[in-house]
Amino acid sequence: MPKITFENLNVTIEVSKGDTILDASIANDIPIQHACGGFCSCTTCHVIVKKGTENLAPMEDDEHERIQGVERQSPTSRLGCQSRVMGDVVVEIVNIDQ
Ligand code: FES
Repeated sequence: MPKITFENLNVTIEVSKGDTILDASIANDIPIQHACGGFCSCTTCHVIVKKGTENLAPMEDDEHERIQGVERQSPTSRLGCQSRVMGDVVVEIVNIDQ
């Protein structure tokens, strides 16, 4: 099973292949913000991929448009609700739900 490591929480979880980062996070009580409920409209689920960008399903147009202009944008920025995990990844959650 693929693994997601949340670098800034120092936590690794196992996920089913094809799950989104957001769905896997919610299922494992990882405190990632998701104000719109996973509908690609708020960007609060922004993550920066540190390793394994090739192990996420490619970005689609909606996500690509949304990710423009997010705070702390990086070349490896993704939206957790749109990123399907196909292999091991290491990410930083930008907006931790306090
Ligand atoms: S949860 Fe709103 S864009 Fe991902």
